[in-house]
Amino acid sequence: MLAVAILAAGKGTRMKSQLPKVLQSLAGKSLIERVLASVNGLKPDRVLLIVGHQAELIKEKLCHIPELEFINQVPQKGTGHAIQQLIPVLKDFEGELLVLNGDVPLLSKTTIARLIHQHRTSKVEATFLSATLSSPEGYGRVFADELGNVSEIIEDRDCNHEQKDNKLTNAGVYVYNWEKLKHILPKLTNKNEQNELYITDTIKMLDKCMHLQVVDPEEVSGINNRQQLSCCEEIIQQKLRDFWMLNGVTFIDENSCTLSEECEFGNDVIIEPQTHFRGRCQVGNNCTIGPGSLLKNCVLGNFVKVMFSVINDAKVGNNVEIGPYSHLRPKALINDECKIGNFVEVKKSFIGQGTKINHLSYIGDADLGKNVNIGAGTITANYDGKYKHLTKIGNNSNTGANSVLVAPIVLGADITVGAGSTLTKDVPNGSLAIGRAKQFNKEDWEIKKNTN
Ligand code: UD1
Ligand code: MG
Repeated sequence: MLAVAILAAGKGTRMKSQLPKVLQSLAGKSLIERVLASVNGLKPDRVLLIVGHQAELIKEKLCHIPELEFINQVPQKGTGHAIQQLIPVLKDFEGELLVLNGDVPLLSKTTIARLIHQHRTSKVEATFLSATLSSPEGYGRVFADELGNVSEIIEDRDCNHEQKDNKLTNAGVYVYNWEKLKHILPKLTNKNEQNELYITDTIKMLDKCMHLQVVDPEEVSGINNRQQLSCCEEIIQQKLRDFWMLNGVTFIDENSCTLSEECEFGNDVIIEPQTHFRGRCQVGNNCTIGPGSLLKNCVLGNFVKVMFSVINDAKVGNNVEIGPYSHLRPKALINDECKIGNFVEVKKSFIGQGTKINHLSYIGDADLGKNVNIGAGTITANYDGKYKHLTKIGNNSNTGANSVLVAPIVLGADITVGAGSTLTKDVPNGSLAIGRAKQFNKEDWEIKKNTN
């Protein structure tokens, strides 16, 4: 039997944030989501999350994971005290307990599997991950012989000068034989610099413990402050960019661009500087994205060009040009060969193949046919203050500059709207619609001079 416990009750004082530390975001996912993902696939019998500081908020964010058991630690008197909360919960449990710190988000599944494997084969009472760090400040130091047998872990604050020179650090990931651990947990004391109960003290109290050094120390980076958060973000971003550069994507200035793990790119994609992808983005072949663009949860076909634009929850076909300065909002569906130009906003609208909206327009709640030409400054007036209404425009129609289409309205196919029109009535196929005041010229008009 395997139980997993994740420590997530601490405040994260060093983050200086309103948000509990484990809910801080790293490359679009919270720390705790990342830690939970790292135990995915282990098929544990129980998954226990120890919460305390802002427990309700954490529970709310994770309520979609049914197998998660929340254990309250109130007040929070240290990592050892957190684990003590498991004594009644795991009263009848027999087997191994995997303990993870909720602020160690880069751990790989492979490393956890190696740790469990080593623990099972060596038959010791506890095995934990360690790393040799060039800057070990802040981490607990591991004192071990060359065979990997550990005598104790001493926290950074409790180390003397000599002990601080030890660069072998505790990663905060442990596998225990629960039978053995549960007997020593009540004996933890708080005789240390922080007056807390430390989980790390269990190591010297158990009979035989070993450490397993990770191959890549980056994996066990702990996050206690925003500098460390930023370092981990950079590690993830560099890995993502490296992966995509080896898979057909060119970055013009890679360090100025960020990706998410849910992005997918075709071949011959060029990502220009200052371009960011969030959430689930799918980009086809031969696209050029950027400079200066933000794309979130979107699908782009092949040969799409996006420049200085924002695309959010939208879908774009093949051979489409977006921008500069376009804003595609949720449920914008742009079909093949369209052009969405300068200062154009499209929301919840179907834009038929070959349609062009080149300048300064708002198209919302609309259904546009094929090869429509939307003149500069055309607005679908979709909102009456209470409800949203639809605008429909048939194939091959043109709207003149500064047309206001007051929805609900249906404009047929092959129609033309005169510039400056405000239309409130449907327009039949093949018509010219003009809805503006007639021009009046008064001849021989003298400009009144100011005589004062
Ligand atoms: C801890 C380890 C240290 C190790 C480092 C690795 C201890 C005493 N020290 O230090 O040896 O090198 O992690 O990153 O364990 N938490 C609770 N309840 C509490 C206190 C903390 O659940 O009462 C949780 C925190 O939310 C956090 C985790 O335990 O997720 C670790 O706590 P933190 O204060 O970050 O410990 P470190 O100082 O990083
Ligand atoms: Mg920490």
